[in-house]
Formats: sequence, structure tokens, C-alpha cells
Amino acid sequence: MTTPDPTSYTPAGFVADATALLAEHGATDAGFAAVGERLRLLARQPGLIPEEHLAGLHGTGASATILHEGTDGTCALMLARFPAEAPTPVHNHNSWGIACVVRGRDRYLRWERLDDGADPARADLRLAEERELGPGDVVAFHGPPHDIHSQQGIGEAAWELVFFGRNPNAQPRAYFDPITGAVAYADATG
Ligand SMILES: [Fe+2]
Repeated sequence: MTTPDPTSYTPAGFVADATALLAEHGATDAGFAAVGERLRLLARQPGLIPEEHLAGLHGTGASATILHEGTDGTCALMLARFPAEAPTPVHNHNSWGIACVVRGRDRYLRWERLDDGADPARADLRLAEERELGPGDVVAFHGPPHDIHSQQGIGEAAWELVFFGRNPNAQPRAYFDPITGAVAYADATG
């Protein structure tokens, strides 16, 4: 693995480095910390966020774009936008993930599942952690059942890079209602 050029780090370079770091450390806290450092470097690169978004031409909804995938499809780097108007639904990703804020501030809520997951239509969730993340802040989560969260921009939209152990759009995502316990499934588009 080469030392990245801090002025011209690319999504492809990041994914290559992250793949090597995870092969060395595994999907562990140490591996996530090492990858998080590289993600923080990538987040500082200019031009990550499309100009039309910065100009405010787009609406208030959450959006997400896959920037780069690993060669074997086992990992994916996403750029996501979380509006301030409303939180995302509480959702999972069927994967571990590492996120770094690029721009704005993000209210990040991590939820824990208290039931054993035997009933796909029901889940007993409790709020486990609330964090306010700013540019350069990194948060990591392990794979199921630890991949449940919700997010919201604070004051303005928050932009994040999120690196997943698999393309999160490859299988339906679960959406949770923490009050009623209901779980719904839908194809992930963002
Ligand atoms: Fe998410």
C-alpha cells in the first residue's frame, strides 16, 4: 500500500487502500480506525460534492450516490446527503460501515435491537447512542444487527462519505418504527 498523496486522493485510491487495510486487520475496530483515517483524508478533497447540489438547486430529500465499488463487489463507497428538514427513517444496511462527514453537521442516532430477530416483521429497538458529527468526524458500525441508525442534517444538509463492506443497494433494506416495532422492507435507492 502506498502513502496517499494528500492533495489528490481519489475514491478509487481510497477503496484500494481500504481493501488492503481490511485484509490486514479484518472488519475489526482496528481495521475501521485505519480505514477511517483514509476516509477523513478523502473527505478533505475538493470537488467531492457536485456543484449543482452546493448551489441549492436540488430539493430537500436524502440522496446517495455510489462513487466507487471494489473489484469483486464486496465493498462500496457512497456519498450521501442528509437534509435538515426531517430525519431519515430508522434503517439498516445489511453491512458494516464507516462514515465521515464532508460538509455540514449530522445528528447520528444508533439503535440497538433487543429482540433476537426471529420475526422479520417485528423489532424491539432502543436508542443506544446520539452523536453530533462535524466535518472530519468518523463513526463506524459493525454488521447486522449493529447496522441500524438514523441521520439528520443540523441546520443545513449534511454530506457524508460512507464506506460499506458490500453494496448496500444490493438487497432490500429494513425500515424500523421504534414506537410500534413494525419492520418494513424496500429496495434501497439512497
Ligand atoms: Fe444509513
